[in-house]
Order: sequence, then structure tokens, then C-alpha cells
Amino acid sequence: MGYLHFTSVAGAETAEISSPGAVLKVTLSLEKQVPFYQVERLGKSVISKSALGLRFKNAPHLDGGFVLSDVQKSSFDETWTQPWGEKKDIRNNYNELRVRLTEKDGLKRSMVIIFRLYDDGIGFRYYLPRQHGLENLQIIDEMTEFHVSEPSTAWWIPAREWNRYEYLYDKTPLEDVVHAHTPLTFRTKSGLHVSIHEAALIDYAGMTIRRGRDRALQTDLTPLSDGIRAKITTPFRTPWRTLQISENAGGLITSDLILNLNEPNKLGDVSWIKPGKYVGIWWEMHLGTATWGSGPKHGATNERTKTYIDFAAEHGFIGVLVEGWNIGWDGDWYNNGDVFRFTEPYGDFDIVKLSEYARSKGVRLIGHHETSGGISNYESQLDDALDYYRGLGITSIKTGYVANGGDTTYTGADGYVRHEWHDSQFMVRHYQKVIEEAAKRKITINTHEPVKDTGLRRTYPNWITREGARGQEFNAWGEPGNSPEHTAILPFTRMLSGPMDFTPGIFDLLFEKEKPDNRIPTTLAKQLALYVVIYSPIQMAADLPENYQARMKPFQFIKDVPTDWEDTLVLNGEIGEYVTIVRKDRNSDDWFLGSLTNEQARRLEVSLDFLKDGVSYRAQIYRDGPDADFENNPYDMIIEEIRVTAKTSLALDLATSGGQAIRFTPVK
Ligand code: NOJ
Ligand code: CA
Repeated sequence: MGYLHFTSVAGAETAEISSPGAVLKVTLSLEKQVPFYQVERLGKSVISKSALGLRFKNAPHLDGGFVLSDVQKSSFDETWTQPWGEKKDIRNNYNELRVRLTEKDGLKRSMVIIFRLYDDGIGFRYYLPRQHGLENLQIIDEMTEFHVSEPSTAWWIPAREWNRYEYLYDKTPLEDVVHAHTPLTFRTKSGLHVSIHEAALIDYAGMTIRRGRDRALQTDLTPLSDGIRAKITTPFRTPWRTLQISENAGGLITSDLILNLNEPNKLGDVSWIKPGKYVGIWWEMHLGTATWGSGPKHGATNERTKTYIDFAAEHGFIGVLVEGWNIGWDGDWYNNGDVFRFTEPYGDFDIVKLSEYARSKGVRLIGHHETSGGISNYESQLDDALDYYRGLGITSIKTGYVANGGDTTYTGADGYVRHEWHDSQFMVRHYQKVIEEAAKRKITINTHEPVKDTGLRRTYPNWITREGARGQEFNAWGEPGNSPEHTAILPFTRMLSGPMDFTPGIFDLLFEKEKPDNRIPTTLAKQLALYVVIYSPIQMAADLPENYQARMKPFQFIKDVPTDWEDTLVLNGEIGEYVTIVRKDRNSDDWFLGSLTNEQARRLEVSLDFLKDGVSYRAQIYRDGPDADFENNPYDMIIEEIRVTAKTSLALDLATSGGQAIRFTPVK
């Protein structure tokens, strides 16, 4: 079913619309000619009167002086299929309100505000039609507010800081959210779970959130180096501003709002994109036993790469990532943004032979482009770099932008060096360019130090995953590592934006030889649970082959777990406490369960009623042993097999910072 227009009103002072199931309602009103919106859920205010508008440097603002010149409503209902994802079929069912605001006097310019209402959330955006006086605009402020009606508790990471998105989450009253990235998730006093984010961030600045008086959160667009927030040419549509609203925490995870608000796939046939698991020459650099740069400890050697290729082939991995393969890492690579060569391997890395060897074993090398935020150096080589990999049969690349927030660099034609934020319009354009150039060559991209995800994988399915939060690597670095609650917060915050390359599966939890002061702050079973809980279509088995060889029994779960799903359900969860997620394999009738907890041990009762009725399943269970506890006994694990059906209810016993992983297979 496509669009269905059903009303058109002009001359009113307010307009309203409800979601298809009448759960959510938005009212747009003009007060003293200034536009405001508000949101109710089942008759109760969630967002109270909040301002809308845009301000420009080079034109009069569009933030008041309006009349409501046109109101249109329509509805839409369609089910679309993801090429890969956490579920296969997605229903996109919304009611839309388009309100045209026209200046009463003066230039009589118009702007359109479009709302889309779903039962589990809303999106709204500004549309600026091409018209006289509104051609090329320099935006200095977006006035969008989110005036949260009730006192709430928020989970957030700080924005406009040096470590980009890589912070531990703070849990504070909403009033204490000083300046945050989105998704910004909070729980209201009456128990609603809400997340503010954005969808379809294209050619615009990332939106961050600042506190305002009485919980009136303010939009703060990340500026360009010249202070302008965004430079646009009309006609222009801003990204969607989104609110996901759910009675329980799990409802945020299963909401498809962000994907639905993005445009459909623009790449055509994407059957060349392959989800799967990979290994790589990576963790040894973080442990400090190998180096990215050349020398006696160089990690990316022919010999070591062959070991990884053999290991990958033996255990069914599709790819082998190799970092530190190319010229540029020597010295302080953090500051080598001008030095990296993306078509020149080190002498001890025979990329031609190794990629052939990999292919002969049914595996592919995964490319790596660390840029250290040197954007001109990378862009000047981009075409060659992508062609080079493509020529070698390398079809997926991990990129990296290790530079402080505000410090990716670009040298203009005049030789002047500009410094830009990772979530500025400049970098949004850069990441987009890499995705589009890679797509032309049928290459997928896994961006580290990215801009946050806003669901663009729907439009560009080759943007297969990204980082954009603290991943496993922080546990190797200490300073401090990730807290036990971190992975119990991510599913309700960062993960609402899209897949994450967290790199789970470290089995040598203590690495006492390499870094005695640091460790992985989880049990072994929790490392397995992460494969189900933290979604990504490509998942790394991040540890060294020798550490898997030492523990082949739990390794079996990593071998078995798929990365592409037909369906996803959340059985339980509280933000920062615990979560249990089940996912159905897209290519078999198997289900997989992942459950994890923060530093508190707990028992969670779950019903297996998601399984097919009348079918008996073999459950292969990987659970914390009775004496497991993450601090003193993280390896205690029980691996067992039982028979279950849809009528079974299971008690999941989780140790402190523990977890559980289960594979359910139908038995004939
Ligand atoms: C940071 C990335 O997150 C990490 O995975 C990578 O190993 C280093 N940068 C080097 O590129
Ligand atoms: Ca990183």
C-alpha cells in the first residue's frame, strides 16, 4: 500500500495527528506566530510545548512570524525486507502530517515540517523548498527542543569531547545531562522509556543535546571549523529528529523507527554483501605483544597472516582482518594522518600472495585504512586505495579515524589546515563519500571512530557496521576498562542507532603475561552472550587463535552463532542491569539466546514460547558455573545439553558480570 491522502486544512492555528493505533499523538501549534509541537502517549504528555525553527547567518531566521498555510495528512503501510539485519521483514506503518508555515510579512518564505507517527515513536524534519531568499543557507542554529514532561533518569555520554563517542555512560537525573550525544535514552518517572536520536543524517551536522531550563532539552548542531553549523542548498530536508517511546526498555530495542525513516536501498542488487564472522591481527597490538609499525614485533607478517588464514579456514570464518599492513604506522601513528600510504604494503607483508592464499582456502583478507583523521591524505588516495583492494579481491574494509574530537584535519587548496569534529557536516560528507565510492566497487565498510549511525544502512547496505562507542579494546588499555554494566547499557543506548563492531569473544580474560594490571571484567560465558546481545552483521572473534585453541569447547558457540537474523525478540531487560535477547537464524530453524548482567549476580526466568509449538529442540547451553564470579572465578562455566519445547521455562543463573548463551536446534 502506498500513500493515501485524507485531509487538507488551511488557516488553522493548530494541527494534530495520531499514530495508526492511536498510541501517540502530535500537536503542532502557532503561539504568537512561533511554531511549537507536543507529544502525548495514550493521552498523557511525554514532550510538552517545544519550539521549532532554524536560524541563518546569511538570511533572516525561520523561527517565527508564521501562519499555518497548509496542512496535509496521509498514511502509509508497507512491509519491506532487509538484505541483512536483526530481522528480515519490517513493517513501515505511519500517519504523516505535513504543515506548511509561511511568513506572514516580509519575504513570505515557507518551510514545511513533516511528522511521521508510528505506534512506537515519531520522526519529524524540516523541509525547505527552493524559493527566493532561500537558496544557499548558512545555518547557525536549529531551534528544535525536546521539553520532557516528567522528571526522568537519563543514560548519556558527553558530546563535543576529545574521545568522540568513547565514554562510559553516566546515569543521572535528566536535569544533569549537560551536553550529550544521541541516542539519549531516559526513563520517565511514570516508567516510559524514551530515546532521542536522529535518522538519515546526510549532508548536515550531527545533532547533540544540551540541557535547558525545566528539562527543555535543546538541539546543538556540531559546528564546522568556521563556526557555521551547516551549509545547505535548497530544496533541503534535514535529518529526522526522532523519539522512540516504549512502556518497557526492551521495546526500544525492537523498534524499527530509525530504519523506517531512512530511504530504501539505493544500491540495487546487494547480494554481494556477506554477513559473517572474522578474525584478525588486531588484539596482539592492543595487548602490546605486536606492533602496527615495522620492526621486530611487526604484527602483519606473512607468517602470522597465514596462521590466521589457516585458523579462519579451519573454523568457518569468512575473513581475516590485518592491521598495520601498510606504510605509515612507524613513529607515533596517532599523528601520521599525512603519512599513511594506502597502496603500499610493508616489505614483510606480501599482499598479493596472501590474498591469493586466502582465496585458495575460501577466506578473504579484510582491508584496513587507518587515516588518523588525515582527511586530505585519505581522500587524495581514496580511488586508488579502493581500486587496489578490489583488484586483490578484498571486498570489505575497516576504516579508522583516530584523532581527537574536533581534530580531523583537512588542508585546503590554499594550504590552510582546518580542524573538524567527527560529527560535523564536513565529516558526515566524508564518511558518505567513502561509502558511495566503496559501493561502486562492491566493497563494504566498517567505520571506526565514525559519526554515529542514523540508519543509513537501509539506503547504503554496504555500510555494514561501525564502532562509535567504547568497544572491547578499552579492556586492554585499562584507563579504566569498560565497567560490568557497560554492555548492559549499550543495547538501550548506542545500539538503538545500528550495528556495532564491538569485537567480543576474548577468552584469555586476564592476559596476565601481557598486561597484568588490566583484564576483561566479565565471565567467559558473558563473552559468548555478547554475540547475540550486541548486534552486528559482521562479528569478530577478537582473541588470538592460540587462546581459542586452549578452550575449544566454549569456542564452539562462536563457530555456531550466525550474524544474520530473521527475527529478534527481547525477553527481558532493564537499562544498565541486565538484558536477554533471542534471535532466529535467517538460514536455519535455530534460535540463539544471549543474556547478560552487570556486576550483580541474578536469576532470570524466561519462557521459551518463542520456539515453534510442538517441536522439540536441543538446547546447547553455555552458562556461568555455580562458583563463577567475574572477579575471582571468571572461567567457571558449564556446557550442557537439554531438551526443551515452547512450553519450557528456563531459569538463567548469571554470575556477577556474567552471562549465558544458548543455541536451540529442532530435533526430528
Ligand atoms: C582504533 C580502532 O577502534 C581499533 O580497532 C584499531 O585497532 C586502532 N584504531 C588502529 O587503527
Ligand atoms: Ca576506537
